[in-house]
Amino acid sequence: MESVPTVQAGLEDVVALESKICFIDGRGGRLLYQGYDIRELAERSTFEEVAYLLWYGRLPTERQLADLRTRLGALRALPPGVVDILDRIPRDCHPMDVLRTAVSALALFEPSESRPGASSIGGALRLTAVLPTVLGYYHRRRMGLPPVTVDPGVSHAGWILAALRDAPASELEVRALDVALILHADHELNASTFAARVTASTLSDLYSAITSAIGTLKGPLHGGANERVMELLAEIGTVARVEEVVREKLARHERIMGFGHRVYKVEDPRATILREWSRRIGESKGNLTSYHLLRKLEEVVHAEKGLYPNVDLYSGSVYTLLGIPNDLFTPLFASSRVAGWTAHVLEEYQDLRLIRPTAQYVGPTDLAYVAIGGRT
Ligand code: CMC
Repeated sequence: MESVPTVQAGLEDVVALESKICFIDGRGGRLLYQGYDIRELAERSTFEEVAYLLWYGRLPTERQLADLRTRLGALRALPPGVVDILDRIPRDCHPMDVLRTAVSALALFEPSESRPGASSIGGALRLTAVLPTVLGYYHRRRMGLPPVTVDPGVSHAGWILAALRDAPASELEVRALDVALILHADHELNASTFAARVTASTLSDLYSAITSAIGTLKGPLHGGANERVMELLAEIGTVARVEEVVREKLARHERIMGFGHRVYKVEDPRATILREWSRRIGESKGNLTSYHLLRKLEEVVHAEKGLYPNVDLYSGSVYTLLGIPNDLFTPLFASSRVAGWTAHVLEEYQDLRLIRPTAQYVGPTDLAYVAIGGRT
């Protein structure tokens, strides 16, 4: 008798493909990009170095890094056609919807960058360079601020802060964001990367793959959790109320955002690093309110559910202290993860096999067709 295959709900533990880009040791709490430990990269490298590493599989030399920075800087401006579209978008949209629409629209104006194949590295650079400009353009327009002039000379983190804020950024602020970008740049086959690879595996173009990824990252179980963490902190208000609010939520079977992970069974190493940055940047601003609330939240959620923090627990507090509004948190995640998404799409093009799993059919069979007049 033929054995019935078992369904792996949520594809948990299913090994879908081979990849050299990212390794997660969920039990040991380790994360490697192309073999390098995330803790060392967060300590010593920059987002641009990490992007190069993800795309080319090796750390850049000084000259290669300088060249990459120049190329990214030169690719920051938006084509007038995309600016026209952004000008027609309502001012109260979620910026993730704006980002998804902008990438999709960009494909219409840049078909050669988008074509599948090894040449897509040009498209990878272009999308990485331009996402902050899209966000800055939309955010400034909805705030009634004049558009910012593209600055090709600053780092990716520096450009994000310049595009989104009016206040000049300090070195510490730029570094805090740079570290957050490094930590978000890739994470193996997370849902959005998988979505990008599925799209690429049909030999569709790079921009379509990244449009799929942005739509997938938007969900609160994936990229949207840090926004919800900050809403939770606002709801809790004081350290004294943490226990009561968490218990109420758990009694209603609600999830506490920023905790738990499909792969990590211990603390997410990215959360460890961001916790420290939340404290550091909080101290520099004389505002440790979120940091103290989050520490207490960790204690209570661990005691109640045995869950550990994930990357989203502390990222929102860092972004808030950098003056970035809540609805731009997930788009910031995208402005970093685009490096990982595009690296995975390039890898997919090199070793392509259509991704097409099967479903276990659980519906009826052999139903007799009833003419429309005879249906009840
Ligand atoms: N709060 C309360 N209970 C939780 C949580 C949480 N944050 N996470 C997991 N659980 C419980 C869940 O209710 C379930 O309990 P039971 O077996 O009693 O029904 C059990 O743990 C297993 O949950 P699951 O949904 O089967 O686990 P998963 O591997 O599918 O979920 C997750 C992973 C990230 C979706 C989940 O932990 C979650 O919803 N966390 C909150 C959202 C969040 O912080 N997302 C960001 C993830 S990290 C960034 C990224 O990689 O995108």
